[in-house]
Amino acid sequence: MAIRVATPADLDAVLAIEQASFSDPWTRGSFRSLLGGPHVYFPVLEVEGVLAGYAIALFAADEGELANLAVAPAWRGRGLGERLLDDVLAVGGVRGVRTTWLEVRESNAAARRLYARHGFVETGRRRRYYDDPVEDALVLRRLGQDVQRPA
Ligand SMILES: CC(C)(COP(=O)(O)OP(=O)(O)OC[C@H]1O[C@@H](n2cnc3c(N)ncnc32)[C@H](O)[C@@H]1OP(=O)(O)O)[C@@H](O)C(=O)NCCC(=O)NCCS
Repeated sequence: MAIRVATPADLDAVLAIEQASFSDPWTRGSFRSLLGGPHVYFPVLEVEGVLAGYAIALFAADEGELANLAVAPAWRGRGLGERLLDDVLAVGGVRGVRTTWLEVRESNAAARRLYARHGFVETGRRRRYYDDPVEDALVLRRLGQDVQRPA
């Protein structure tokens, strides 16, 4: 198992996982435009040379957003999503991120369990945010370990 930064050669495999994972998938152009972006972290996870998952995170100052995370259906349930999430949080921490945000479909139980285990808490809801099927997004936030909360 290895995690490395995505390259243009990964886009076919990333797109195949994206299309197998979401009813409203991102386009190839969306992924391509993020490659190498200064505020973008786009890791891919390989198992025995096979691209099994990826994440897209955006970092700006002390805020981060996990914009995408997916594991190929055949590789789910083996902790790979967790490895990618751990990696994104660790890299964000090194880059000074203190608060990480994400949106998740309300019905996405597997992802919500994963995020809850990593300290994400629900802070809001975007009504009818997703299409196909129409569904609310939950807005989740994770505070960095070193954030001082008001007394
Ligand atoms: C969410 C996702 C990335 C998790 O990846 P993964 O490699 O399966 O994750 P892990 O193996 O680390 O498991 C994470 C949790 O999901 C659960 N899970 C994994 N596959 C599951 C499945 N098919 N059905 C139900 N739960 C499942 C695991 O049991 C685990 O929860 P638990 O430890 O509390 O039981 C993956 O399911 C996926 O790609 N889903 C489609 C895309 C998506 O929804 N991305 C998130 C958008 S916000």
